[in-house]
Amino acid sequence: MERLLEYFTPENYQLSLKIDKHKKTREGKVVISGTSKVKNIKFHCVGTEVDYVKSSGKNLDFELEDGLISLVVAPKSDLTLEIGFHGALNENMQGAYLSTYKYKNKEEIVVSTQFESHYARECFPCIDEPAAKATFDLEITIPEKDNDIVLANTPLSRHPELDSGSMKYVFEQTPRMSTYLLAFVIGKFQSETIKNKHGVEITTYIPLNQRKETIAFANEIAAGSLDFYDDLFKTPYPLKKLDQVAIPDFEAGAMENWGLVTYRESCLLADENSSLDTKKSVATTISHELSHQWFGNLVTMEWWDDLWLNESFASVIEYLAIDKIHPEYNIWEEFFTGSCLSALSRDALPGVQAVQQPVNDPEEISTLFDAAIVYAKGAHLMLMLMRLIGEEKFFKGISDYFKKHAYKNTKGDDLWSALQPYADFNVKEFMHAWISQPGYPYITDGNAQRFLLSGETDETTWPLPEITDDMSGHYILNLSGPEFEEALGKFADLSLEQRLRLLIDRMLLSKTPLVSSSSLLDLLPKFKNEVSVSVWSILLSITTTLRLFFPPESEEEGKYKNFLIDFITPNLTRLGISPKSEESDNDLRLRSIILSLALYSEHAPTLEALAELYDEDALKIHPEIRDYVIIANFRLNEAEMFDKYLKLYQTTSDPELKFSYLLSIVSAKLPENIEKLFPLLEKPEIVKPQDHLYLYIYLRRNHRTKEKALDWLIENWDYTVKITGEKSIEDYPRYTAGTIYEKAESEKFFAFFNKMKDSPVLKRTLAVAKTEIDSRLKLIATDQADVLRKLA
Ligand code: BES
Ligand code: ZN
Repeated sequence: MERLLEYFTPENYQLSLKIDKHKKTREGKVVISGTSKVKNIKFHCVGTEVDYVKSSGKNLDFELEDGLISLVVAPKSDLTLEIGFHGALNENMQGAYLSTYKYKNKEEIVVSTQFESHYARECFPCIDEPAAKATFDLEITIPEKDNDIVLANTPLSRHPELDSGSMKYVFEQTPRMSTYLLAFVIGKFQSETIKNKHGVEITTYIPLNQRKETIAFANEIAAGSLDFYDDLFKTPYPLKKLDQVAIPDFEAGAMENWGLVTYRESCLLADENSSLDTKKSVATTISHELSHQWFGNLVTMEWWDDLWLNESFASVIEYLAIDKIHPEYNIWEEFFTGSCLSALSRDALPGVQAVQQPVNDPEEISTLFDAAIVYAKGAHLMLMLMRLIGEEKFFKGISDYFKKHAYKNTKGDDLWSALQPYADFNVKEFMHAWISQPGYPYITDGNAQRFLLSGETDETTWPLPEITDDMSGHYILNLSGPEFEEALGKFADLSLEQRLRLLIDRMLLSKTPLVSSSSLLDLLPKFKNEVSVSVWSILLSITTTLRLFFPPESEEEGKYKNFLIDFITPNLTRLGISPKSEESDNDLRLRSIILSLALYSEHAPTLEALAELYDEDALKIHPEIRDYVIIANFRLNEAEMFDKYLKLYQTTSDPELKFSYLLSIVSAKLPENIEKLFPLLEKPEIVKPQDHLYLYIYLRRNHRTKEKALDWLIENWDYTVKITGEKSIEDYPRYTAGTIYEKAESEKFFAFFNKMKDSPVLKRTLAVAKTEIDSRLKLIATDQADVLRKLA
């Protein structure tokens, strides 16, 4: 791919933007100083009209084509170029874009930015490549009457200035940084500021329609994380302030813009009235983004093929930080039962990508973000490396890395070199094999072979660390029947990680011919009296895996539901429906798992007891059972509740609660309500584009709407592409593939998607979908009879 940095090296951008959110316009001037290397130089520029290009006051001829401005200049000279441009504000959650929320019956407009991976070019002309680091002097002008808060990466350098109806905000110069990390936000927010131990001013901004009490938690986690990283990395946070903002329309979960981190509302807002799950995920999201302030922002990957360098590191360090700030969260358990499990599951599919992946087409940048691989597997490999080297030594290497590469760019090898002095093995050789190859081995009697859900294997080999039976390694252990029984026999003596390993491996093996699915039905009852929520979270996954074999609403499914009721009864009896004061976090969360199984199994007494607790003022319901109470009330009173919940979905600001209503209505059974669900897919004024994927996924989970959901997607593919960002479009076929259990549906799926099998954005997802669905159909064919027989 062409790299513009080879033609011109930018040093500084003076960027003046005039933004009018009512007229939806952006107009500006950028003065770029730097050095030309050759005479034909280019800048990225997309969706923007260029009015002029000047050098030393003289107009230059230029061409604007295919998102590039081309100019002829003196080669090898220091230049100052001025480019005037204008365009519209985007409405698709990338570049500089519009976002809205309702407050006191009035629409509030927010303008914010999402520049990663290559959308800075949709806001202003620049060399939009991570290695093209420069300093930025930003000024933003807005209509005076808007009276908005205006934020950027750095603090204001002076008081805002009024000039004939406009307000101008001038910001301090940024450090040397990549364009994808530049950001600004304009709008009405409420905020609170605190200082951390190291004296950084931390402010969290949230829309006016959200509960002010949620600010404190976000501030507390941010302060704790910055202090933790300051000490751990032995490199101070390089800016004076850190702002965090909840943006009402947001494509990803969060974005680590330097000094101005932006979040989806559901990823930032939490307080004592949120569930523990929400608090934990908000906490790790914050600690993830803040770790990027060093790993990513201060030191940045040279090119996108090393994106994993950013994301794998952040995805493991986020847990280290929260474990320090809130040890009582036992947050590592979340890592093992969430991230690790998702990595091991996806990485067992033939055709899956490696953590490190070459990028050829610009559009491919977006497909790099396979979260289960680049985030979760990458994180698991980092953990493996950290444990091999030892935590203390590992961070000595990391702190050397920051000292050596601050304000510069790196490749994976630079990280391995920084760690090498602290390791007694060849770090680069070792990690290279794991990072650049897809898949992982399963270990049988000390022999390693690639593990694939298709039941096949191949020639891939990996340098193996010392094999341990905790969660350190990205491999699985293929215990023989007797070995497995023996391990089960001493389950109580195992460490938590050993227990999780044992169950995770068994579950994965059961999806291949190595272990029969029906054996899971013998396994589960042994855990009836288990009380650990992490163990239960794997048990829950096992029960979900088994659902595959039971046709919805069949007699067999009825038997399976009875089996599950029996399975959860000891814990259901022990815990009861309502949380008790003084209850442990473990039990609070375990109840949640138990209730979800009770709801799936249609356990009538539980449904009724939950519905009893329904309160019109939903925030009065205990946060740990709120979802279940809301859903149970819906299940028992659907005819009356559907319209009411749909209304509540639209008027509720709290993101967690809003989702409870959505989750409820998509479980509709009555045909007249199901009819009302599908139009919602085409009503962005009701279900925001940022939540469209969730609505679709939920419709795929309800067996009554499942088939129709796929029909809808096929008929409305172009519309879906239009409202979905590049990064997320592949999620639609990916999640669809995850819920295909029948040959006919598989055929329908591929009849449509096959024509896109060469599209750079979709080709890998579709190839993996094929192997995934084939393995699943094969599994059903071989194991179903046995499973059904066992429950007969
Ligand atoms: N840098 C990413 C967000 C991103 C990635 C934006 C690629 C655009 C393209 C950010 O640090 C991130 O990883 N966000 C996660 C949430 C996080 C807690 C795992 C996300 O958005 O899913
Ligand atoms: Zn990240």
